[in-house]
Amino acid sequence: MNTINKLFLLLLLCVTAMQINAKEVEIQSLRGNYDLDELSPEPEIKRRRDSDRVKRQFGLQPPVIPHLTKGYKINLKFNKCLTCHSWENVKKTDAPRVGFSHFVDREGANSKKVAGRRYFCVQCHVTQADTPALIENTFKPANK
Ligand code: HEC
Ligand code: HEC
Repeated sequence: MNTINKLFLLLLLCVTAMQINAKEVEIQSLRGNYDLDELSPEPEIKRRRDSDRVKRQFGLQPPVIPHLTKGYKINLKFNKCLTCHSWENVKKTDAPRVGFSHFVDREGANSKKVAGRRYFCVQCHVTQADTPALIENTFKPANK
């Protein structure tokens, strides 16, 4: 075999190998098998949940939080909690919305925004944890 023939054979081998490879690897798009001008179904929104909801122990108890809140910032300009729990956003996030009581300011007037005294959520709501009682007690939930 002369050099030209050898090179040609090598090229042929390469092309065949590439073709075999192309058949084996099926490329999957994240949006599924849809044409570009077609809409793929919207992915299901995952509800934020790390543990089962603990029942409230008395009527006006601030419910404990059934998910982690580590790193969730609340400052003058930004409130991470409201990105899921505000009335506008619950439509998208499926989170329970903040109650009416959270819009009443200290003069008793209804405001459009969450009232200042309810803005710092973690003042009242804590992430639930299964911890032993700090002191022995005979507390019974009010609704039982
Ligand atoms: C990524 C979205 C998301 C963020 C951010 C978020 N939450 Fe939630 N939260 C949820 C969802 C969804 C549920 C409902 C979980 C369930 O049904 O078990 C929930 C449940 C709760 C509940 C329980 C309500 C009840 O009636 O039992 C409280 C309280 C709560 N969150 C407070 C907070 C606070 C405070 C923050 C900020 C520190 C926060 N959440 C941030 C999505 C979010
Ligand atoms: C001063 C205490 C306080 C603060 C601050 C507060 N909450 Fe609450 N929250 C409560 C109490 C008490 C309840 C239960 C009674 C009610 O709905 O008012 C409650 C209820 C809730 C519920 C359940 C509503 C329902 O209808 O079941 C959610 C969700 C919630 N709060 C989220 C938040 C978020 C998000 C923030 C911050 C923007 C926040 N809360 C700030 C005291 C507070």
